[in-house]
Amino acid sequence: LIRWLDDRTGIRKVVREALYERIPGGARWRYVWGSTLVFCFFVQAVTGIVLWMSYSPGGQSAWESVYYIQHHLTAGWFLRGLHHFTAQAMVILLVLHFMQVVIDGAYRAPREINFWLGLLLMQVVLGLSLTGYLLPWDQKGYWATRVATNLMGLLPGVGSQLQSLVVGGSDYGHGTLTRFFALHAGILPAALVGLLGLHVALFRRHGIKVKTPEKRPETTFWPDQVLKDAVACLAVLAVVVYFVVRPGLPAFLGGEGAEWSARHLGADLGAPADPSEPYSAARPEWYFLFLFQFLKLFEGPAEVWGAIYLPGIVMGVLFLMPLLGRWKLGHGFNVGLLAVLLLGVFFLTGRAIYDDRVAAWFERDKFQASEEQKKLYENSEQFLLASREAEQNATRVIDLLERKDEAGSPMLAPIEGAVALLRNDPFTQGPRLFAVHCGNCHSHAGGTGFELPAQNPSAPNLAGVGSRQWLSGIFDAARISGPDYFGATKHAEGQMAEFVKADFASLGAEEQDSLKKMIEALSAQAGLPGQAAADRADAERIAEGEKILSSEGEEGEPWILKESTGQYCMGCHTFSGKGTEGVGPDLTGYMSREWLIAFISNPEHARFYGPRDDSDSQGNDRMPAFAANPDSPQSNLLTRRQIEIIVDWLRGDYDRREVP
Ligand code: HEC
Ligand code: HEC
Repeated sequence: LIRWLDDRTGIRKVVREALYERIPGGARWRYVWGSTLVFCFFVQAVTGIVLWMSYSPGGQSAWESVYYIQHHLTAGWFLRGLHHFTAQAMVILLVLHFMQVVIDGAYRAPREINFWLGLLLMQVVLGLSLTGYLLPWDQKGYWATRVATNLMGLLPGVGSQLQSLVVGGSDYGHGTLTRFFALHAGILPAALVGLLGLHVALFRRHGIKVKTPEKRPETTFWPDQVLKDAVACLAVLAVVVYFVVRPGLPAFLGGEGAEWSARHLGADLGAPADPSEPYSAARPEWYFLFLFQFLKLFEGPAEVWGAIYLPGIVMGVLFLMPLLGRWKLGHGFNVGLLAVLLLGVFFLTGRAIYDDRVAAWFERDKFQASEEQKKLYENSEQFLLASREAEQNATRVIDLLERKDEAGSPMLAPIEGAVALLRNDPFTQGPRLFAVHCGNCHSHAGGTGFELPAQNPSAPNLAGVGSRQWLSGIFDAARISGPDYFGATKHAEGQMAEFVKADFASLGAEEQDSLKKMIEALSAQAGLPGQAAADRADAERIAEGEKILSSEGEEGEPWILKESTGQYCMGCHTFSGKGTEGVGPDLTGYMSREWLIAFISNPEHARFYGPRDDSDSQGNDRMPAFAANPDSPQSNLLTRRQIEIIVDWLRGDYDRREVP
């Protein structure tokens, strides 16, 4: 069969030539770099094509398809992890290969053209990395690539045209993604295959550049060098696999504190890209960090020097290396230049990481000496904060996607893409809306999670609003006029505060328990999800509490105090159709979703505080009506949905299934 095949194709000769290439001076480890690079490219092509089978380039589907690959495709995380980390390995191997070539002087005649091909290959590989970073369409890739494409626009003359060519129009977005994908999966790999073919062909033509061929006897490529190359490729693969599974190793080996799940394994997937949510902690891949740091040295119009001219000049000098290397001195210069460049890259990368993380590593007081140091520390704090928030969002969006409905089937991502889940999510958006619209008066401190200690709170602290614990402060003579409740409002001296201070200042044990029952009853009106179990368990006490609450001082009605001053809740409030209108807010459904939405929409409504009245303590004190006009929504401060989001968040009702 082989003879038949050879007769028709001449295959034997080709194989023989390929395998029995001469290696003067014997097989060596230092020659393996080129082979490992070809191997990595092969891995990238295979994993890339398989990824392609599940990937969908599009503003509303890219992230979703990568999420599917990472979390639902069998071993998808492994596939994605391989592709991700092999790309990083390629960059490192490129540097090693380049170093070996320069140090060995392998660029000298007649190998100049092959050296230049190598440099072009390096650019193509970096181009593949850059384009690949955008494809998951997550926050970090989106914002980092946006910076990169903006730099392109700095080029004088053709800059803006070039930028819109790459970005796909004037807007960075879906069009950019489709272009980057075409580059990443079409043009660049084709260029790489073409250049690589030429590179290998020329390499074969000139043979290996050997420094001192006489040291060891000549061998052939097969089997000696092939064995070394194979071992090196396997070693690279092993390192890559190690990085893919690394986060899951402790769990796998029986350690604690780590999870063996696709959330942690393989490559990271941030929250879906959201053009309306600038992400200040976006950074390029680590091997571009040095450029990012280098750019910080240039400001304003000088930026084009850092971004384009200087890197261009360095590239130009690299291209001149074979010509300089003709002289001994020139070769020395080349090696020296390479060393300086690498040191510079190391230093800048380290510096970039240090600048970002300094606040995590050192105490603040060490950085108070100068304005510059303070700024450095603050920037780092902001970076860490933004990264934490980004991580939280990434986890949250997956939580939302993995939710099951009552029938146990998974929720689907909305048609606008997974980013709509986050935009509509009380847990994510609640604190933001609160900070902007409520935080200048209210604080939100001491609860679980989000802390917003207002500078000078001028309204109640709303952390845990409606819960038993929160309510107990209102009926505490020592706290009702304190900073967490009515302290900074005109109600500090109001009828409620007066009543509480007069009647509840010194209660006996039995009275205390009656008060507790009443608080439990009032709190049950809120129907807080976090308190549902307690509300169910205390149903009896709550029923008694409701009686106390709605007592009007009639014969046989229970009341907290054995001897009353004649004041009852129902003298000033309404509850379940009983009571007195026009004094204090309605307590029916107090702090329930409906009550809160109505209250925030218009606290001046007769059901709540009534119109502002500056002459006495009654009436609304400064709390704006956020949606007073149901008939003309555009004139309102907040939309209905925004209010719902704030309310669901305040009530810890994060997982409502209502589709807005
Ligand atoms: C200009 C200051 C101000 C802003 C802004 C403000 N509030 Fe208020 N809020 C008050 C004051 C003062 C009260 C006390 C009751 C009153 O006088 O209306 C209050 C009361 C409340 C209450 C009733 C709880 C209690 O302890 O009485 C809730 C709930 C509330 N605000 C929620 C919000 C939310 C949510 C926002 C943002 C959408 C907000 N407030 C914005 C000043 C403000
Ligand atoms: C003398 C009249 C009066 C009595 C009695 C009274 N309240 Fe009030 N209550 C008010 C007024 C008025 C406010 C509004 C704040 C202010 O101006 O003091 C208020 C506020 C409240 C609030 C806070 C409302 C909000 O916006 O969050 C709650 C809760 C409350 N009362 C519950 C009760 C309960 C329960 C009782 C009975 C144990 C009671 N009140 C007795 C007049 C009264």
